[in-house]
Amino acid sequence: MSYTAEIIHLPKILDKRGNLSFIEGKHHIPFEIRRTYWIYDVPGGEVRGGHAYRDNEEFVVALSGSFDVVLHDGIREQRFSLNRSYYGLYIPKMTWRMLENFSTNALALVLSSTTYDPEDYIRDFDVFLTETR
Ligand code: TYD
Repeated sequence: MSYTAEIIHLPKILDKRGNLSFIEGKHHIPFEIRRTYWIYDVPGGEVRGGHAYRDNEEFVVALSGSFDVVLHDGIREQRFSLNRSYYGLYIPKMTWRMLENFSTNALALVLSSTTYDPEDYIRDFDVFLTETR
């Protein structure tokens, strides 16, 4: 089954003591979570990503601050602005992705469907385009 990139709204438990959101793998997002990493202390103007994964799927949340995720599926490019901690962007496998336009103190949480595997990366956009055809 193949999925498309989409914003997924997470549960939000409103509480005057402070709000709470959560994510369960295979329930709120369409994969089991095998890995979590986060990107932080990004200097102004820097771009992260610039690659695709052959197998790995991801879910990205702006836990703090804001940034843009630019996706390319081999045909078209889409820009998603993330700036709330109660929704995130699902990124299917075989999607070229870049994270950019980070605000000061932005914190990007990334949930992944696989453990880290450098062999899963496609780092050349032309190779990516060829493999999507
Ligand atoms: P990379 O995925 O290229 O970062 P980005 O796409 O955000 O620019 O990873 C940067 C470095 O961190 C690279 O040397 C591999 C390492 N890394 C791990 O060791 N484990 C991980 O789970 C990730 C995501 C990266």
